[in-house]
Amino acid sequence: MRILNASGCLDALAAPEVAGQLDAFVTKTITPLPREGSAPPRIAETEHGMLNAIGLANPGRERFLTEHLPKLRELGLALWVSVGGFCADDYAETCASLPVGEIEAIELNLSCPNVDEAADSAAEIVAACRRATELPLYAKLSAAHPDVAEVARAVAAAGADGLSLINTLRAVALDRNLRPVLARGSGGLSGPALKPIALHAVSVCSEATGLPIVGMGGIQSGRDALEFAACGACNVALGTVLFGDPGAPARVRAELAAACEDVGVATPDDAPALAKSPETERKVPA
Ligand SMILES: Cc1cc2nc3c(=O)[nH]c(=O)nc-3n(C[C@H](O)[C@H](O)[C@H](O)COP(=O)(O)O)c2cc1C
Repeated sequence: MRILNASGCLDALAAPEVAGQLDAFVTKTITPLPREGSAPPRIAETEHGMLNAIGLANPGRERFLTEHLPKLRELGLALWVSVGGFCADDYAETCASLPVGEIEAIELNLSCPNVDEAADSAAEIVAACRRATELPLYAKLSAAHPDVAEVARAVAAAGADGLSLINTLRAVALDRNLRPVLARGSGGLSGPALKPIALHAVSVCSEATGLPIVGMGGIQSGRDALEFAACGACNVALGTVLFGDPGAPARVRAELAAACEDVGVATPDDAPALAKSPETERKVPA
């Protein structure tokens, strides 16, 4: 099982010592044109997780390719580039611009503002990107869709090589005077509250497609990562946890080995079989 960061939760150039603990680094979502993002405040804490309305702030495709990518390459990490946009052409043009030998995979952020999360529009974007690049394409889906497995099947049929699950869920936090804390009103909820929702999405999408899955949503410990493996994720990504614990990737990796031992599996790859095994074969009764 590889440990990645969740897109937007780590700046590898600002914190190379954190990025160096990862098996691959995922960039913040890049859009064709630069974006300043939403007005502040754009981050808030809630009792159950973190709320953000960053609004896809990013330097835009050209500056990413000429300034950021060469510096990221110097870090010597496997690189995943997160691609966003407002229509299929936006995504496809950025995919076409990414140099094949320098990047391990592309993650398509299919939960961008103004991008319809319906299965057919997600599939249209993936199909356009499939025509534009040979690089592996991971479709990052939101669990807000009533049937995320249907979207997963549609993007698989359109040529996705894998899935990243899940993105934040839309939410609101109010201040003492009952006004929204975030300037934009609502934002995306991340952190521990997402874990049960993400585990469900991973489980149904794995069953629906059999594609490799990067699981994320509230992972804080090695045990959490093992639960994602049990539901069908082959890799995991750490997001919100990185803001409070920059040592999380190394810690989670060490805890993962202990969590495997605890339930009696040799590696996380054996977790799905254990999850489906009869009770008599389990080290820890269900
Ligand atoms: C501050 C912040 C910025 C984010 N920016 C992006 C982004 O640019 N692209 C994207 O696909 N997801 C973005 N996400 C979502 C995360 O990649 C991840 O899917 C989500 O936070 C769930 O994981 P977590 O609970 O471990 O944080 C962002 C999340 C946070 C908290």
